Amino acid sequence: MSAAPLRFALIGTGRIGRVHAANIAANDATELAVVADPMIASANEVSARFGGTAVSDPLAAVDPERVDAVVVASPTPTHIDLITACIERGIPVLSEKPIDLDMSRIDELRPQVRLAASPVAIGFNQRFDPAIAEVQRRVAAGEIGEIEQLAITSRDPGPPPAAYIAVSGGIFRDMTIHDFDLARFFVGDLDEVTAVGSSLFDAGAREHDDFDTVVVTLKARTGAIVTITNSRHSTYGYDQRIEAFGGGGLLNVENVPASLVAASNATHAAARGPYVEQFLERYARAYANELDAFVEWVRNGASPSPTFEDGRAAQVIAEAAHRSARAGRTVRTDEFN
Ligand SMILES: NC(=O)c1ccc[n+]([C@@H]2O[C@H](COP(=O)([O-])OP(=O)(O)OC[C@H]3O[C@@H](n4cnc5c(N)ncnc54)[C@H](O)[C@@H]3O)[C@@H](O)[C@H]2O)c1
Repeated sequence: MSAAPLRFALIGTGRIGRVHAANIAANDATELAVVADPMIASANEVSARFGGTAVSDPLAAVDPERVDAVVVASPTPTHIDLITACIERGIPVLSEKPIDLDMSRIDELRPQVRLAASPVAIGFNQRFDPAIAEVQRRVAAGEIGEIEQLAITSRDPGPPPAAYIAVSGGIFRDMTIHDFDLARFFVGDLDEVTAVGSSLFDAGAREHDDFDTVVVTLKARTGAIVTITNSRHSTYGYDQRIEAFGGGGLLNVENVPASLVAASNATHAAARGPYVEQFLERYARAYANELDAFVEWVRNGASPSPTFEDGRAAQVIAEAAHRSARAGRTVRTDEFN
């Protein structure tokens, strides 16, 4: 007999919250029990579509009588308090990244997470992309030997609104943090961070002293060298590539085309349209797999879900990159430990 579905509370029903709502509703092992958002109209809309009771108070959703697990998909500054409430009430939580923009708040919560009886997972969904996960598995199985170089490219289709940049914590904490986590996923601990940034085209980045174009070079404890290239714009769609190189060869993940149709004519051979535009499309399977891994952790006590410590480690690299790009020097991650 299969176990009863885990009852979930979803906190935050914006862009990413709706992805989680759809996945929780579609998964046989889970059901949406409570949907919380101070914008009650949004919570109502999501609960009407995917199930559960809508509430406006996020803390009312963290109720062990009503739910077995919580997904936190509210704005970043709310994550720490909601994770804390889940730990105090013994409820497993999957929180969106980043944990917080302030390293000292993350470190304050750290001892409590270490002692927590219930899981605290962080939403680094890209680890669960089938192609990225396959490359990682094949590297771990020794197919190309030890990784010597890892190249990660991530370019968004277009910059976010200036108001978003204003509260994002900057490109390294907001965007590159996914790539810092992927770098750790492939090569483990990273010791040295050298970042350069420019603001070339986005008025919002310029207005808020942020960058729209960055390159980060990282040196892993193994000696492997990682390069991360980020841009806040890309005319040809969402540019997400990864390349792992070792003595035995190279494994890489290509972009996903929006259409499988290719045209050949007098000026082009096998020309395709742009790549998919949105992270929601590119990583749809990854978000569903991320939920499966979290359920496995809740039910069986272990899973490949990124932990709070993974979230903190990626954040340390983001802090180092932020400092490096501003100070114009290489920064060691142990400056933050
Ligand atoms: N893993 C990913 O790929 C990914 C993608 C996008 C966003 N995110 C992260 O998810 C979080 C939310 O981002 P988004 O783009 O969905 O934001 P959003 O602005 O689209 O949605 C946020 C929602 O939270 C609600 N909200 C505001 N204050 C709240 C509170 N105190 N408690 C509960 N809900 C509250 C808002 O009303 C809104 O409905 C951010 O931390 C972001 O970094 C992760």
